Order: sequence, then C-alpha cells, then structure tokens
Amino acid sequence: MAAADAVLPTAGHGAMESWLQSRSDVRERRGLVRAASPIRLSAAGAMLDLASNDYLGLSRDPRVTAAAVDAVQRYGAGARASRVVNGTLPVHAELEKQLCHLTGAESALAFSSGYLANLGVLGALGGPGTLLILDAHVHASLLDAARLSRSPVAIVPHGDLGEVATALQTRTQPRAVVVVESLYSVLGDGANLTALAALCASHDAWLLVDEAHGIGVAGAGRGAVHAAGLAGAGNVLLTVTLSKALGAQGGAVLGSAALREHLLNTARPFIFDTALAPAAAAAASKAAQIIAADPTLVARLQENAATLARLCGIERSPGAVQSIPMVSADHAVRAAAGLRAAGVRVGCFRPPSVPDGVSRLRVTAQADLTPAEMEYAAGLLRTVARAHPANVSEQAGLGRNRNDI
Ligand SMILES: Cc1ncc(COP(=O)(O)O)c(C=O)c1O
Repeated sequence: MAAADAVLPTAGHGAMESWLQSRSDVRERRGLVRAASPIRLSAAGAMLDLASNDYLGLSRDPRVTAAAVDAVQRYGAGARASRVVNGTLPVHAELEKQLCHLTGAESALAFSSGYLANLGVLGALGGPGTLLILDAHVHASLLDAARLSRSPVAIVPHGDLGEVATALQTRTQPRAVVVVESLYSVLGDGANLTALAALCASHDAWLLVDEAHGIGVAGAGRGAVHAAGLAGAGNVLLTVTLSKALGAQGGAVLGSAALREHLLNTARPFIFDTALAPAAAAAASKAAQIIAADPTLVARLQENAATLARLCGIERSPGAVQSIPMVSADHAVRAAAGLRAAGVRVGCFRPPSVPDGVSRLRVTAQADLTPAEMEYAAGLLRTVARAHPANVSEQAGLGRNRNDI
C-alpha cells in the first residue's frame, strides 16, 4: 500500500485514548487538574509572589544575570556535549569550587538539575547490597531514584529516629544510606541532622541530605548540614538544587573526592546527559559567591519568614517555606484562586505533591518582601484559613500513592 493510502487511526479512539480520558475524569472529580500556563510578566510584576522558590531574589540580581550573559557570550547557549565527552567547561569547575566553598564540602559534581543529582547519587550508591532508608516525606525525585536504583528500600514514618535505628539494626545488607531533606519542601520542617548523622555513624551507614531548601536559607546560607557542624563529615553527603535560593538552574552532589570520582564514572544521569548549560552554571556560581560573602541577604529572608508566620498566626517553620493546612484539595484550589484574585500568588499543594494527604497552601518568604506586603498577604491568608479550616481526618488516605492520579 502506498504511504498516501495508509489508514491512520483517528484521534479519540482505542484503548490508550479511553484510558487517558478516564484518568483525566478521575483528576477532574478529585479537583487535581493542573495547568502549566505561562505567567504574564506584566501581571506577575503586579502580583505579590509567595509561591516561587527564589528565596533571596537572586534570579534577577544584576550580578547573577551579568554572569549568565557573560557565560553565554564566552561559551554559547549550550554545553554541546556530556561532561565526560567534551562538555566540561571552566564554568562547571568554578561552580563546583564555589559550592564547596559555600557548604564546606570536600568535592562537588554538578548535574543538569536537582532531580538528576538525586537520581545520579542513589543510582550510583544503590543496588542489591545497599539498603536505602527514606523518610516518608522526601521529595519525589528521591523516591524515583530509590525505585530506579534496584536497592531494597525501607520508607520510615516522617522524622521517626526510632524507625531509622530499627531499619539500620535489622538490615541484612552490608551498606545502608539514610535519605532525608534538611528542610522539607512542603511542610517546611527540619530533620534532626545531628542525631541522624550519629545514628548512621554508629551503624556504618551514610546519611544523604537533600539541601534543596536549606542551601542559601539555613546556617547563614551555607546550609543546615554546615550549621549542624557536619560539613566534611565522612559519612554525610548532600544534594542541592541550584534553582531555588541560588536563583539559577541545575543541581549538584557534594561529598568526598572518592564519592565524586565514583559518580563521575557511574552516575548515569551525569554520563548520559548534556552538561549543565553555561549560563546556569555561571549564574549559580555567582549566586553561591554572593551568599558566602554577604550573610545579610539570608538574615533578611529569615526575619521575613518569622514575620510572615507571626502575622499569619501559624507556627514558624525553620526555613523559607511556611505551610497552611486546608480541608481538601478542592478547598486548597479555591483558596489559592481567591488569593490570586486579590493579587497574591501562593503554592497550592495537593496529591500527589503532599506526602501526608493533607492539602495545603504553601507560602514562601523572600528576602525582598516589604512589611506592607507581608501585612497585606497575611490579612488575606488569615481570612482564607478561617474560611477553609483544616480537617485532617477527612483527607486520610489521599495522596499515599504518589502515582495514583
Ligand atoms: C527537596 C527537593 N529535591 C529536589 C528537587 C529537584 O530540584 P530541581 O528543580 O533542580 O530538579 C526539588 C525541587 O522541587 C526539591 O524540592
């Protein structure tokens, strides 16, 4: 049959199309439909943004954007190859140096995103001989990384040190890695890093701390691991994203030189991926330098987080993320829409993003918020919290399986 005579199936028929439609119907019924609409820059300028993760406002800092422009002009728009072919540029080496300087780690290896850094490190350390013990609230990238790593996996209740100890004590594998976030991305609470590191040391295990929300925020910007006095500890390694407080894009794994060497040779998301774009590497590198040189920016962020929590009448969490529980996904969506209409953009977290099944508004403090802006937003948030009071029990069961949407 000539190509022109081939009968093409029409859209909307067949098993796959019906399945797509049924999944879409389920999302619609549960109030879980998402959109990725471009924000209108003029409108964004007029909106008060309490939803993004640019905690220090560095994504638009002229020193950071100038570094990105310079890197594009020197090296081009893309890195053109994997790091292990010929994609490693001076900006990558400089970025890794600045990240070590900021966090106190011995070595760093940059990836194209924080997500890939997590896939890379757990893939390279995992396997049948490594037990991975994950806190139930860790980010989706760490859960996916654990699944892909072919390791035995234990998921322990959030913040439960006793369960971590039991998993370590009863393990049959020679190696183990305990996986936590320094500051959790949705609830904003912190892990007890000192106790976890000691527990891991006493059981010959490693502690992997995802500092996505800690770098540039905790410990004068050097991260919660540094603040806990664990920088450079032999059994503690970190992952970071460059896309939140550092205002750029990309990720990194930080730890010993031996770890870096192992990742460079075995981490598939590093080897089989085009290197981080020069502009992003240079921007993140400059942001890391700014944070290390000037702790006042981070101090302003911390002050604003405390003020925002106090004005909203919620318990202050240690990082930039403040969390307000909502009665249901539908209430959370309606509350966020109401706030948007009044000129305030907040995060709306519902399954599968919330690990505990409680939908919530997520409000992120930023260093450049003014007292008047915080008063205005907090007034609205207090009204919203009264109109949509949380009822945790109604939500039981939702969101347990993060693939169930
Ligand atoms: C805790 C945590 N880890 C990893 C990531 C992934 O980072 P990136 O956006 O750079 O891929 C995120 C981003 O949302 C995060 O919150």
